[in-house]
Amino acid sequence: MKKKLELNIIDKKQIPEVEPERQYYFMDIAKAYVKQLAERKGSPLTFHVTTFGCQMNARDSEKLVGILEHIGYVETETENADFVIYNTCTVRENANNKVYGRLGVLQSYKKKNPHMMIGLCGCMMQEPTVVEKLKESYRFVDLIFGTHNIYKFAELIVTSMESNSMTIDIWKDTDKIVEDLPVERKYSFKSGVNIMFGCNNFCSYCIVPYVRGRERSREPKEIIREIEHLVADGVVEVMLLGQNVNSYGKNLEHPMSFAQLLQEIEKIEGLERIRFMTSHPKDLSDELIEVMKHSKKICKHLHLPLQSGSSRILKIMNRHYDKEHYLELVDKIRTAVPDIALTTDIIVGFPGETEEDFEETMDVVRRVRYDSAFTFIYSKRTGTPAAAMEEQVAEDVVKERFDRLLKEVQRISAEKAGTLTGQTLPVLIEEINEHDASLVTGRLGNNSVVHLPGNADMIGRIFPVRLEECRGFYYVGKVDEA
Ligand code: 5AD
Ligand code: SF4
Repeated sequence: MKKKLELNIIDKKQIPEVEPERQYYFMDIAKAYVKQLAERKGSPLTFHVTTFGCQMNARDSEKLVGILEHIGYVETETENADFVIYNTCTVRENANNKVYGRLGVLQSYKKKNPHMMIGLCGCMMQEPTVVEKLKESYRFVDLIFGTHNIYKFAELIVTSMESNSMTIDIWKDTDKIVEDLPVERKYSFKSGVNIMFGCNNFCSYCIVPYVRGRERSREPKEIIREIEHLVADGVVEVMLLGQNVNSYGKNLEHPMSFAQLLQEIEKIEGLERIRFMTSHPKDLSDELIEVMKHSKKICKHLHLPLQSGSSRILKIMNRHYDKEHYLELVDKIRTAVPDIALTTDIIVGFPGETEEDFEETMDVVRRVRYDSAFTFIYSKRTGTPAAAMEEQVAEDVVKERFDRLLKEVQRISAEKAGTLTGQTLPVLIEEINEHDASLVTGRLGNNSVVHLPGNADMIGRIFPVRLEECRGFYYVGKVDEA
């Protein structure tokens, strides 16, 4: 059992009611606790945040890191740390299993370091059965919170430090968006930017609307202000994040479309590249295609989840488009932006999927010729409509289809890779090459990876690079001095 901490500085009457002031107040208290504990330990307290799942979670983790650093914790590479947080995902069952498995390892660390704190947050914590299981069998976890109250992290740390038992704070939903909390970016030159939270689509297989709540958009002026600050701090590329960015702005007091938001962001001086994720085909407007066509900053890459190529399955999936509509959309986009890279998500083995349905998916894959595709085996998520559907497809059938799809996707990607060989294109240099320190690694606007001779001074800058050769899925090139 951890030792309860108490400071006499908390005058509860003084706790600010408004955010983010309230959280800064708790950060001061947490800072005092962390200092006290570090003195006792004789060295700074360490932390490690482990992120599972999507880019949304990655961005949330940067917010957790921002607060932990603000209150005096020092980041460490290992999970053998004084404070470990798992920011969890629950989109597929195996994501959950991974977390339970790794908690066992954390418990062994905690036995040797009784002051260690273990926190769990993110989508998986929004599932009541998960929290029950943790309460029952994982008593060594100190803090559990969800996706809606992540902004309260500082306050929750203080509550947990002052308590002898598990602190649990899960909200069902919220309409609250708290701005201006500390964030620690992983990369100095690029950043995710949340433009909206939640999802209203209720695709029948998907748990996200249940764990991330209803759709809510950030005010455009807050988004612009954040990006302006990021640019002033060295960021040249932003990734606008939302479960369905194409429905951005619908619930704002002064509604605004995603295409209009993009045009505003485009005006920000010093910002070089704009990416966004994820686009739902049903909401992708002609206005957006037009804006992409004329933009100098929006990257020529579109992630457009297909999920299935069968109109029958798409209907049961509640996707609100059919195969023909999807193919027409792809045509329209390719006509407007000819060299755009297209990527997708595909689910294999949705309940009732027949060989014919699966062949429709293969047909779309062959027609669209994706630059790459994330392929998933359908995972039954309790509480979603699909989980209750009869006719779940047999495991061996799904596996066999999955392998066939993967092979086809990879064959096409391999054929498509290399089409830019010989061209000189802008590359944002991201890091020193992992295997060869005389090289740097960067990305084209279409997201392809490029390796070239260079040094650390180039990181975060954009260079014209001649793409000399394509090896597998990446290019090798060199800076074009001309
Ligand atoms: N099973 C398998 N894949 C899923 N996805 C979402 N829910 C499930 C599920 N129950 C996939 C979708 C989505 C991606 C993020 O995860 O393809 O686009
Ligand atoms: Fe899930 Fe569909 Fe919402 Fe994407 S759009 S998060 S797949 S419900």
